[in-house]
Parts: sequence; structure tokens; C-alpha cells
Amino acid sequence: MSDKPFYITTPIYYVNGHPHLGHAYTTIAADALARWHRLRGDRAFLLTGTDEHGQKVLDKARERGMSPQDHVDDMVVHWKAMMATLDVAHDHFLRTTDPQHIACVQGALAWLHGRTDAQGRPLLYQDRYVGWYSKAAERFWTEKDLVDGRCPDTGQPVERVEEVNWFFRMSSFQTALIDHIERNPAFIRPESRRNEILGFLRQPLGDLSISRPRSRMSWGIPLPFDDDSVTYVWFDALLNYVSVTGWRPGMDARTWDTLWPADVQLLGKDILTTHAVYWGTMLLALGLPLPRTLFAHGWWLDGDGRKMSKSVGNVIEPAVAIEGFGLDAFRFFVLREVALGADGRFSYDGFLVRTNADLSNDLGNLAHRALTMTTSWLGGGVPAVAPDASPTGFEAPLRALAADIVREVDAAWTDVAPHTALDAVMRLARAGNKFLDDAKPWALNKAGDREATAAVLRLTLEVAHLCVALLLPVLTRKAPELLAKLGTSEADATVHVRGLLAGTATPLHALTDGASLTVGDPLFPRHKDLPEPVVAALAAQPAPVPAPAPAQAEQQ
Ligand code: ME8
Ligand code: MG
Repeated sequence: MSDKPFYITTPIYYVNGHPHLGHAYTTIAADALARWHRLRGDRAFLLTGTDEHGQKVLDKARERGMSPQDHVDDMVVHWKAMMATLDVAHDHFLRTTDPQHIACVQGALAWLHGRTDAQGRPLLYQDRYVGWYSKAAERFWTEKDLVDGRCPDTGQPVERVEEVNWFFRMSSFQTALIDHIERNPAFIRPESRRNEILGFLRQPLGDLSISRPRSRMSWGIPLPFDDDSVTYVWFDALLNYVSVTGWRPGMDARTWDTLWPADVQLLGKDILTTHAVYWGTMLLALGLPLPRTLFAHGWWLDGDGRKMSKSVGNVIEPAVAIEGFGLDAFRFFVLREVALGADGRFSYDGFLVRTNADLSNDLGNLAHRALTMTTSWLGGGVPAVAPDASPTGFEAPLRALAADIVREVDAAWTDVAPHTALDAVMRLARAGNKFLDDAKPWALNKAGDREATAAVLRLTLEVAHLCVALLLPVLTRKAPELLAKLGTSEADATVHVRGLLAGTATPLHALTDGASLTVGDPLFPRHKDLPEPVVAALAAQPAPVPAPAPAQAEQQ
């Protein structure tokens, strides 16, 4: 294995508005995945950032009466703040207005400009474009693509455009792209999306307009070979994933290739075509390897089943959810509630039910019961017990289950399935509670069997510990707090998880004999009602604007 870090990307977000649940979702999923890799001992690199050029951003700047640069400098603060609020441990935050990124885009364009395809046709050429432009999706459509005269992806109005643009000969790479998708089942996930892209590629692929006349749209990276044109925002934005590595066309792969290709590029299904088709063919043209996996997750929908979006005004603000339920519950909920790839309807009532069931009942109770019983009957330290002590007969199956769960969790993250990983941990937590009910330490304690009581409680503490250790990538604050209550630390838990994965550590024997325990308050108190900040936000919410045309893509 090379020592290339496991490279994970999020989309770079448009700075035409503030972040909402959807953006938080992708970013949390990517962050948790990166944290799992770091926990298991891999090096990981997480890239996120902002997409700052293009019509949509320019319009917003005008609306605010600001220069585009002032506007993006002002907006990026909110996106960086989102990363901090969500505890995202990104390795780099890229802005497409960064000089290094601009240099890479211009380098790529200049390089392509001098090149031809296998038939000797130039990869970049000028042509007259006549068609329709959707600002909402920042892309062109032909007459027949439109649905009721509107953008098929967003349902928003389109404008007629007739102009001379530069085109990228995307069509020359259609066959190679299809071939790549067919040979690499993990390239586009989930599989249903892979089939959609293959279906799309069964039609002839047009070429991609990659410039805008400066006279119409000036907010973009200047084309290095045409002063009157700026780069189309998607051609600019997609290159962020390699510009961060320091790559420039023509570089020797052995000297720069420390990060690319990405291992997992996470994105919403709304931008899978641009990634699979535009990005895929761009990479083929530039002679770069394709990412190992493009993972298109589903959408958070509102109660009426509509995609949550700024333009509809039906968004959930992460800040409100976090203020009401706490960051850990928020991160946990979004990853646990729906499988990555599926759509999910967001409701605060669902959030409350899930948090109470999983975090307060299954995990919180397990830890709290074990801590309370141990400290009240046996003193304030981790009871010293032999690693294989089995006074009740319920111990061996629990130890076997724990070993299985660790492997299952690792396999789930490897498979980019946070939902499955969290489900497995919760099964272990429930098994821990069941063990406590079956082994009845209160009866053992009452009968004066101190040794058996100690063995049962030690094992329960160990189950709580393992659950919390496995939740470190998600519960970024409460997991370390809970580990401290169990007399241990994130660093020691990490060593233990790595030991379990390597088969060198004993399952359910991680805590240190005598280490001091702290009971304190339960870390996840039950919510009887929706928390106050949520109630206030719901009351203040304006009625959503009726969606324009039912957007086709939203039916997926
Ligand atoms: O498309 N549910 O930026 P963007 C789930 N700049 N995820 C959602 C969501 C929802 N309701 N709404 C948004 C762009 N997202 C381009 C990307 S990449 C080179 C350029 C998430 O600000 C999801 O990840 O519109 C989606 O793909 C992304 O935000 C779109 O963010
Ligand atoms: Mg969007």
C-alpha cells in the first residue's frame, strides 16, 4: 500500500446564500468518514470549500450592491463558520478565488488548447451557441431538455442565450468514460445512480461549452488564450479537487501525485452528472486518473417531500437543530436516520424520537446504569476482573458479538455506509443493556457476590466503552467526555480500536483496573418535548413559497 492519504472531498458550495441542512449533511458525512479512517490508523485528507465564480454568485453580489469579490469575501465567513460549528476537521478549505486554484485552471485550459483528440480534432474550439441557460443549475439546456419551459433539474426559469463560446470536445471521451464506468463498479455509487449515468451515456454526448463572453458574465477565471472570455463555472469548480494538490498539466506524476486520485468524492445526486460526465471526461482529457468513487447521496426533503433548498425557503438551519439538540445528536441523527444514497424527510419530531431512542435510551442508559451501579456498590474505580471472567454465562456471546461488531463497523465505513456502521454500534449498545437485564448485578450484589457483581459491571462498562470508541467519528464532543467518565481517553480508545482491528487487543477488555469513574449527569438527557430554540424557530418560519414546476429530478 502506498502512503497516499485516503482522500475525501465534499462539493465546494456556492456562496450565493447561507449553509443549510443539506450542505451540513454532506460535510458531516465526509468528516465522519475521514475521522473513521484516522481512527483506524489510515492517513486521511479531507477537502472542502467554496465555489465563488459564476452567474448565480454575480447576481447575488449585484442584489446586495457589492462587488463580487467583496460579496464572496463576506459570504465565505459563513461557510467557514459552518465547518467550525459542525466540528469538521478538514485538512484544507479551498476557495476558487485562491491564486493557486486560478493558476491550475488556467494551466489546464492552456494545455488543452494546444491538444487534439485521437482523430486529430482540437480539444477546445469556438462555436456559436444557441440555447437556454439555467442560472439555478448553472448549466445550458437544449429546447427539448426543458420541462414546461423550465430547467429540468431545478424547476427554475431559463434564459435564452445566443453567443460564441469555447467548447470542450467532451464527446471524444464518451466511449472511454463508458468503458471506465463498466469496468469499475465502485466508480459511481450507489448502483442505481451508476445505471442512470450509463443510461444517460447511451445517448450521443454533446460537447461542453466552457466559456462565457466577458461582456455578458465577467465574474470568472479569464481564459488564458482569449481575453474576451471567462471560464464556465463548472469547468473551474471541478478542478478544485486537483488544484489543491499542486498539480499543473504536464507535471510528472511521480513528483506531485501525493493525493490524487480521490478515494471518495461525496456529493448530492443533484450534481452527479456534472461530476461523472464533465469531471470524468475532463480528467480523461487531462490524462489524470479518475476518482475511485463518486458517491451521490440523496436529498433531505421537507415534510411535503420537496428538496430542501434556499429558493423554496423550506430549509432547516443547522444552528437551530444544534442549539436545540446539541451538535453530537445532530451529527448522529443525519447519518443514522437515512442510508447514504436514499432521500430522507426531515422532521424535528423524528429527530426527537431518534435521539431519545438511540442516544438517551440505548447508549446513555447503558453508560449511566453501569457507572451508577459500579460506583455505588464497588467504589469509584474500574473493577479489576480477569479478561475472561464469566460468572453468569451471558458473557461469552457478548464478547463474540463485540468482536463481530467491530469488523462490521469497519466494513460499513469502508463501504461508505455510515448508517450501517451506526446501526451496528446501536445493536451492541442494546446487547449491553440486555446483558445487564439478564445478568442482574443487583441480585448478585444483594446476595453479596462481589466478584460476580464486579465481573458483570466491568463487562457492561466495557461495552459502553467500545460503543463510545466506535462513535468517536460521529460524537465528536460527547464521546471524549464519556471516555473521560470511564476513566480513559480518546487516545487510549483509538489504540484499542486499532488493536481490535489488528486482532491484537482483547474485545471488551480495554479499561484500566482501578481507573477512576465519574457518574455525573446523563450525557444525553431525554427530550420530553421539542427544545425551546426549535419551537421558536418553527413558530417564526415563514410559510414556504409554493414550488415552481414539479422538478423532474426531485422525483428520483
Ligand atoms: O452545486 N439534501 O453547490 P451548492 C442533501 N457549487 N444535500 C443537499 C441538499 C439537500 N436538500 N441541498 C444541498 C453546487 N445539498 C456546486 C458544486 S462541486 C465542484 C460544485 C448539498 O451550494 C449536496 O452535497 O448548490 C449538494 O450536491 C450540494 O449541497 C450542492 O451545493
Ligand atoms: Mg445547488
